Amino acid sequence: MFRVHAGRVARVMTRLAIVSGGATGIGRAIAAAFAADGVDVVIVGRRAELLAASAEEINETVGTPRVRAVSADLREVDGAASVAASVSAGRAVDILVNNAGGNVAPGPAADLQGVRESWMSNVEGNVLPAVLLTHAVLPLMARPGGRIVTVTSIAAFRGPATYGGAKAALHPWTAELAVQLAPEGITANVVAPGYVPGTEFYGERMNPEFHAGRAAQNPMNRGGEVEEIAATVVHLAGPHAGFLTGQIIQINGGALLGRG
Ligand SMILES: NC(=O)c1ccc[n+]([C@@H]2O[C@H](COP(=O)([O-])OP(=O)(O)OC[C@H]3O[C@@H](n4cnc5c(N)ncnc54)[C@H](OP(=O)(O)O)[C@@H]3O)[C@@H](O)[C@H]2O)c1
Repeated sequence: MFRVHAGRVARVMTRLAIVSGGATGIGRAIAAAFAADGVDVVIVGRRAELLAASAEEINETVGTPRVRAVSADLREVDGAASVAASVSAGRAVDILVNNAGGNVAPGPAADLQGVRESWMSNVEGNVLPAVLLTHAVLPLMARPGGRIVTVTSIAAFRGPATYGGAKAALHPWTAELAVQLAPEGITANVVAPGYVPGTEFYGERMNPEFHAGRAAQNPMNRGGEVEEIAATVVHLAGPHAGFLTGQIIQINGGALLGRG
């Protein structure tokens, strides 16, 4: 393992990453990429069995027990705190990936109460997991060298409104984190994916016609691979990205504001 600080590269202990939403889709690919890179990983989600199965599969692939599962609902203070509490005393967290989220609005709003529910569910489901987990873990983060990467979405630039609005809230929050944490040698960045089909994100909406329509929204005319998102997160979390902070990296096959 290596860490770069002020241009110097030093050998350090095995790094530790926390990846929220690490049992499925993009988060799982991020966890697998870290584990393959020799990083210890804590994956977090609400479904304990799924988490345990994903951790076991990744560990089998890398041939060593790198990945550990912690079940928690990150919309809740206790859930976020329990993740921080699961880290061994004295161990620094080198990497925090705020990946948990999704469009959790219950559907088109039929009335004013529905409008409220749509906003509240997406703020709770996307803003709170990132913000609460970051605040819970921040005291444990490596200084210097800590890395925070938050996964938002192309939706933050073009909607849909309540999901995109919730993801967009994480952009100025990340900018402020980057400024506040720069003196401590911690970076904070955003990765904003476009259409990535190899996930649970689209649920029952996914079918060949839906896929073709989504793919056609970018000039590459395809969906992104979860590994393509993970590769950028790994770079942002790596030792050579110490001067890269406060940025929003879009990975979307060239889609711009919904125009292919
Ligand atoms: N797929 C895309 O096209 C796409 C595009 C742009 C952005 N994104 C973003 O990418 C991120 C990863 O999503 P994905 O596409 O990989 O979909 P996914 O397979 O549905 O992954 C979302 C993960 O987040 C976890 N999660 C959700 N709410 C949570 C909570 N309150 N507490 C703890 N864990 C929670 C889920 O596990 P549990 O349900 O077990 O908790 C699940 O493992 C999300 O933030 C999503 O908004 C996805």
